[in-house]
Amino acid sequence: MSQQSDPQPLIAILQLAYSGELAAAYAYRGHWHSVNDADERTRIQEIENEEWHHRQLVGEMLSSLDSKPNAFRETRAAILGRILSVLCHLSGWLAPMYGAGKLESRNIREYETAARYARNCGRDDLVDCLLTMAEVEWEHEHYFRARVLGHRWAKRLPIWPQPPAKETIRKSFAHS
Ligand SMILES: [Fe+2]
Ligand SMILES: [Fe+2]
Repeated sequence: MSQQSDPQPLIAILQLAYSGELAAAYAYRGHWHSVNDADERTRIQEIENEEWHHRQLVGEMLSSLDSKPNAFRETRAAILGRILSVLCHLSGWLAPMYGAGKLESRNIREYETAARYARNCGRDDLVDCLLTMAEVEWEHEHYFRARVLGHRWAKRLPIWPQPPAKETIRKSFAHS
């Protein structure tokens, strides 16, 4: 593997992402079941499937680093995801859309950071997949932001900071 630096920061962030994907996937399952609009149901279900795919990819990365998921984070994520899933049915339309968008903007940065950590420890083979996942999270954020901005209360809501354009994910990685 690496003659370079310690893989521990990469392992730690991948464990975080792996469990985060579990919580997100459960939450989105509740979310798409809770909305009435057919297009929204379809798109959020697709997003749920993308989170399961991310989890599989991140799990394979952890194995390739001779590591495994963090048991405590896994339990906590499963509980949190199921609670959020139920809350989607109780909280109305806006709160889950808003919460999802804000969370997704964090996920973009998480995979960008993971890509840098991979490069730092000599695992360049993981970089493209991590940046692709950051780009998919960008699409998720973009979708939920658009949903929230279309709501009649949007003007009165403080919206989380808008991520830079999607192309900057790879550009900034190349220049960092
Ligand atoms: Fe994801
Ligand atoms: Fe996502």
